[in-house]
Amino acid sequence: MGGETADAAASALKDLVQRHGEALSIELQAHQRKTFAPESEKTIRPFAPAEAARLLGIHESYLRQVAAGDKAGASAQKGARRSYSVQDISDLRHALDQGARGNRRYLPHRGGDEHLQVVTVMNFKGGSGKTTTAAHLSQHLALHGYRVLAIDLDPQASLSALFGHQPETMVGPNETLYGAIRYDEARRPIAEIVRGTYIPELHLIPANLELMEFEHDTPKALMGRREGDTLFFARIGQAIAQAQNLYDVVVIDCPPQLGYLTLSALTAATAVLITVHPQMLDVMSMSQFLQMTGDLLDEVSRHGASTSYDWMRYLVTRFEPGDGPQNQMVAFLRSIFGEHVLIHPMLKSTAISDAGLTNQTIFEVERQQFTRATYDRALESVTNVSAEIEGQIRKAWGRA
Ligand SMILES: Nc1ncnc2c1ncn2[C@@H]1O[C@H](COP(=O)(O)OP(=O)(O)OP(=O)(O)O)[C@@H](O)[C@H]1O
Ligand SMILES: [Mg+2]
Repeated sequence: MGGETADAAASALKDLVQRHGEALSIELQAHQRKTFAPESEKTIRPFAPAEAARLLGIHESYLRQVAAGDKAGASAQKGARRSYSVQDISDLRHALDQGARGNRRYLPHRGGDEHLQVVTVMNFKGGSGKTTTAAHLSQHLALHGYRVLAIDLDPQASLSALFGHQPETMVGPNETLYGAIRYDEARRPIAEIVRGTYIPELHLIPANLELMEFEHDTPKALMGRREGDTLFFARIGQAIAQAQNLYDVVVIDCPPQLGYLTLSALTAATAVLITVHPQMLDVMSMSQFLQMTGDLLDEVSRHGASTSYDWMRYLVTRFEPGDGPQNQMVAFLRSIFGEHVLIHPMLKSTAISDAGLTNQTIFEVERQQFTRATYDRALESVTNVSAEIEGQIRKAWGRA
């Protein structure tokens, strides 16, 4: 009798959840269509001359001169240009590089002895700022001339959505990283999965719920394992290795779990970035996360995985400088972790959260949407954080 009631309740819940899931999906798709038409490719705003010059690392007057001589200048109106597209900036970068005879000042691509940097952004605390960090870091690096592959490893696909690739409508079967790491014959080369974005130097592997399959497949694969099979923790590294000559930096946005996907990303990584919101509950959760990660790394290294890293840093996210308890928490973290906490925190800013609401980053939103001070403060914070991480990457390559 009790079993029957329980069954009825379970089937009622199943129906309810299914109905709610469908209703929500329809409404969300309608919302997306309003935000941007399905066929319209997402674009990035043009950059003002001062911004373009800063990205290229040259003076504005020199930019004007170079642009006049370059094909990017051809579309310029008579007199000074008002703006530069990301494609213009990329073209100018190549033109400057030719002039500089490839001394890597303008095109910072890695050389033969500099290994691919694979940066995983992780923490199992939901909402700690992983996706926001991964998106801005990837765009910052690409806008500065690095060849970047951003991998969305979260079945929730927030990074993909932020980059304009809607997981439900624009990412089909076998079009996530799962396609390149799956255990069966449907596995395909990673090159077939990579997509371009509106920034020429930035590529994306999008996510959707299909990635969850890896969490389900792995226990089965472990049981039916044959000699020579690649174990789960080595699979992401192996997939990335197929494309390593095409990129300087790979940025992986992890899901807020310590599952097989995250562990495999951690094994593929050359560097680890742990995002932490400076509040007691978040820091307590991170403490557990660190202990579990330590144990799991211990386990996979016993099975032959490499677990040495070029660098590991904590990034303080959504930081409010006027908040006393947050400042105490940051001081506490610095006292324990020392130089492992990045000097620059990511400031909490309505410019960043509002941009996120329309699936945009601070590089994409129009500055006029915000007061100038709000926008500039957010951009400065993102730039400081990303530049500090860029510094870690360059140090790992042995550059100044
Ligand atoms: N610096 C910031 N200022 C204001 N809002 C922010 C900032 N960073 C992140 N947010 C907002 O906080 C929320 C969570 O951020 P985000 O999605 O980056 O976290 P996450 O760690 O990736 O979450 P999840 O664990 O669910 O993947 C988002 O709504 C985002 O817009
Ligand atoms: Mg996320």
